[in-house]
Amino acid sequence: MLLLALESSCDETSAAVVRAGKVCANVVASQIKLHEEYGGVVPELAAREHLRNLLPVARAALAEAGVTARELDAVAATQGPGLPGALMIGFKAAQAMAFVLERPFLGVNHHEAHLYSPWIAGTPPQADFEHFQPNVSLIVSGGHTMLVQVAGEFRHRVLGGTIDDAAGECFDKTGKLIGLPYPAGPVIDRLAETGNAAAYDFPRPLLHDASDDFSFSGLKTSVRYFVRDHPEILENAQPLRDLCASVQAAIVEVLVTKTVRAAKRLGVSCVTASGGVICNRALRAQLAAACARARLTLRLTEPRFSTDNAAMIGIVAERKLATGTPVDSLDAEIRPNWALAD
Ligand code: KG4
Ligand code: ZN
Repeated sequence: MLLLALESSCDETSAAVVRAGKVCANVVASQIKLHEEYGGVVPELAAREHLRNLLPVARAALAEAGVTARELDAVAATQGPGLPGALMIGFKAAQAMAFVLERPFLGVNHHEAHLYSPWIAGTPPQADFEHFQPNVSLIVSGGHTMLVQVAGEFRHRVLGGTIDDAAGECFDKTGKLIGLPYPAGPVIDRLAETGNAAAYDFPRPLLHDASDDFSFSGLKTSVRYFVRDHPEILENAQPLRDLCASVQAAIVEVLVTKTVRAAKRLGVSCVTASGGVICNRALRAQLAAACARARLTLRLTEPRFSTDNAAMIGIVAERKLATGTPVDSLDAEIRPNWALAD
């Protein structure tokens, strides 16, 4: 099945072409530059930018895959969750394409796409559902932090999530407090590399709590007070790097400890992890080390499929259509608050 997928839930406009589990093209136009001066995503600007970029990005994906729109067997798009104005652009465009091409259409849950993105790997990238194992999965993005038990393909239940800020939000808001550009996650990652993670002691929220929930707003607040009391740190390169490493260590320890603990408790032998924050090198390394110690297999989404992209939408859509999921109506609406387990 040759399928075109569109993703426009937040600040990346993306189109991908997939065929038989293979990613033939995955084009991503990031809006980071546009939102940088506001220190976060401005929904109205995001929607307008999606409108501007969508067709060029879709054309580029078709050209890269060497196919025409007429050859497509199906069209898919992110249906939710996400920013309503942004979601609408990709979703309605995909329905319009399905309408004129007279092809089936499927709306995909953005988190479900992140959830199965660890199974996309290799060159060319290919979905490896043949080696699927029941797992505990950590989704860490700019807007969400979740632990999910995945019993089988598209059989999953949410174990816990953040009760306030997401992990990516914590990276971004902490970065803003210490004067770093948006999104601060990648910058903190880089500065932390040459910093001392034991320099400053920050709280590890809910680390010893029995639930699978997370909370990061208290950590952000403690950074705010720390910076207020030690403003000189921001003027000096090494203490700033130490601060980044220390904050990152707190976030990473909570994520790693709670993920591995849930996997052991539920008796699964595999851990997977996805979402923009999984690009973080300390998180990748420490999850790998903790899983090795606990004799758990670890599948991390490759960085190119970790931040928002249409390839993960297309892989899930094609797999679902191929395994009998009913197609969606061309009148279906976006679902901005669509929970993963609904
Ligand atoms: O999944 P994603 O592209 O968007 C959402 O669906 O939210 O994730 C974006 C988030 C941002 O908060 C960004 O700061 C974070 O991922 N991020 C990182 C790194 N790369 C991206 N956080 C920490 N370290 C990184 N290397
Ligand atoms: Zn995402």
